Amino acid sequence: MEILESPGLDIFSDSETFVALQALAFVGLNNDLERTPAMGWNPYNAFLCSTTEEQYLTAASNLIDTGLKSLGYEYFNFDCGWQGTNRTASGTITWNETRIPSGIPALGQHVHGLGFKFGVYSDAGYYSCDFVNGQAHWIGSLGYELSDAKTFTSWGADYLKYDNCYSVSPTDFVDDYPPIRLEVIVFSFPSSNNADSSKSKPHYTAMRDALAGTGRPVAFSMCEWGVQDPARWAPAVGNSWRIANDIGPPPSWDNVFRIINQVVPITGFAGPGAWNDLDLLEVGNEGLSVAEQASHFAFWAAAKSPLLVSTDLTSPAESTLTILKNTRIIALNQDPLGTSITFKRRYTNDYDVWAGPLADGSTVAVLLNWQNSSRSLTFDLSDVGFESAEAIDLWTGDNLAAHGSLVLKLADGAEAPAPSFFYYPAAASSSVIAGGASTRVVNSTVTVVGYIGMGGTLTFTNVDGGTTGGTKLVSLDYINADYTFTNTACSNCRNAWVSVNGGEAVQVQMPISGQSWDIKFSGYYVGLSDFIPGANNTVEFSNPNNAWAPDMQFENCYCRNE
Ligand SMILES: *[C@@H]1O[C@H](CO)[C@@H](O)[C@H](O)[C@H]1NC(C)=O
Ligand SMILES: *[C@@H]1O[C@H](CO)[C@@H](O)[C@H](O)[C@H]1NC(C)=O
Ligand SMILES: *[C@@H]1O[C@H](CO)[C@@H](O)[C@H](O)[C@H]1NC(C)=O
Ligand SMILES: *[C@@H]1O[C@H](CO)[C@@H](O)[C@H](O)[C@H]1NC(C)=O
Repeated sequence: MEILESPGLDIFSDSETFVALQALAFVGLNNDLERTPAMGWNPYNAFLCSTTEEQYLTAASNLIDTGLKSLGYEYFNFDCGWQGTNRTASGTITWNETRIPSGIPALGQHVHGLGFKFGVYSDAGYYSCDFVNGQAHWIGSLGYELSDAKTFTSWGADYLKYDNCYSVSPTDFVDDYPPIRLEVIVFSFPSSNNADSSKSKPHYTAMRDALAGTGRPVAFSMCEWGVQDPARWAPAVGNSWRIANDIGPPPSWDNVFRIINQVVPITGFAGPGAWNDLDLLEVGNEGLSVAEQASHFAFWAAAKSPLLVSTDLTSPAESTLTILKNTRIIALNQDPLGTSITFKRRYTNDYDVWAGPLADGSTVAVLLNWQNSSRSLTFDLSDVGFESAEAIDLWTGDNLAAHGSLVLKLADGAEAPAPSFFYYPAAASSSVIAGGASTRVVNSTVTVVGYIGMGGTLTFTNVDGGTTGGTKLVSLDYINADYTFTNTACSNCRNAWVSVNGGEAVQVQMPISGQSWDIKFSGYYVGLSDFIPGANNTVEFSNPNNAWAPDMQFENCYCRNE
């Protein structure tokens, strides 16, 4: 693991506005909106920041003609590029009259007339994200929250997407560099409570409070790309928060993998009115195969992400509409229980199993095929806690395509008994900690072994293989806060290689457990073979690839044959 020191920069030190805003009383978000995730359309993945009035108007009629609107895609949203570069003399935000000649109020009225809700876009910083002639100039709302909230609602806004560029200073784009997260996520051991991100919230709470003050219900879509661990504070601020950097454009399967790993530790923070936003949809866009688009859509739906179509619907491929119009998958997203699927098991480089409850008492299970080829797959129901269940296939039931998904609704299930484990603490005297690996005290109850990899190894000894030996279910407790903004070899995950009794090591790919080094993941299951009968087994963790493995706390061995 790497230890980065915080430069301790104060993002608002140069802003008097901030002082005034901070004085506003805290009001928890209680706007009664988005009891299920927002569904709608946003231009960004298709038209970036240069969307014209004509493109907006065409998109609105396409949503109606394709039947998408009647399936629930009701938010018609703006993204960057509509703004001007200057406020009016009285400080009111204005639009680019060349791009939007009829004006925003008229456009808002038009889409309301078609039965849509109307979404606008702004930025929590000095400028919004994109460039005009190579320079940042589009207007952001920092310091103008009260005025802009009034203006947006006077235009009939029902939704505000609120970006994060230039929120540090007029010259720092923000993005991943300078990394404002460094000031919030304290990389020291033991780290302070990560939930206290008081330094980062004000530019978002200011707009939340300004919107509330208008009296018009406006869904608040926070877009700070997950850099300040928003899931831990944003439920009181926004109706949704982006959890990760952009999915595109262009989209890629690697981006999907990066985002899926990033949501692993925070699925439990989402619920009615407050959602993890995995980003706009890429269904219909170049860069993902049809099977990948379907997996992306099903995963977003079952993780209760907002479903915002972001493609040119002028002449959509049949597959695009087939995916977006699957009412069974839409129903997962709009399920009134509002509970995200959670990570259940990863068969490294093979497939993932996720599952979660639905309002009717059934369970949805999502299997993602990481293989680059089509295959059939035997799904072990015990991975989602059942011995038996009735299954309905929510896609179609054929073989799993490369990067395809299987989405099953399981009902009338008989629960499998929970496995009971023997606990082997990593930082015990029976462990062999070698090659640079060392123990780290996280807090009064948790001690882990870190610096595994790059030569460092952790070996559990005296592990009981029961009377039979063979293959065991092993459950791991670990910490991995190595999260990333751009793709790496293992984006938002770390690999450990695990070898039993010196046998061939298996690769275990472990997603981040949180964004600071004191948040652990409990119960990462892996099946390991080569155990011998009796209590003389060794289990070694390493990483031969010049990279770190996660910090290990426990290995929990379930001594039954899998
Ligand atoms: C408009 O804004 C730009 C960039 O901030 C500035 O250079 C220019 O002077 C402004 N124009 C007017 C008329 O205020
Ligand atoms: C305004 O819109 C026109 C037409 O799309 C574009 O050429 C111009 O760059 C835009 N100006 C700004 C300041 O965004
Ligand atoms: C799939 O193909 C990519 C690109 O060739 C490769 O990096 C990746 O390891 C492959 N995945 C599996 C599971 O074989
Ligand atoms: C120690 O850290 C663990 C893992 O995040 C956490 O569950 C536990 O509540 C913490 N205990 C204390 C005493 O802070």
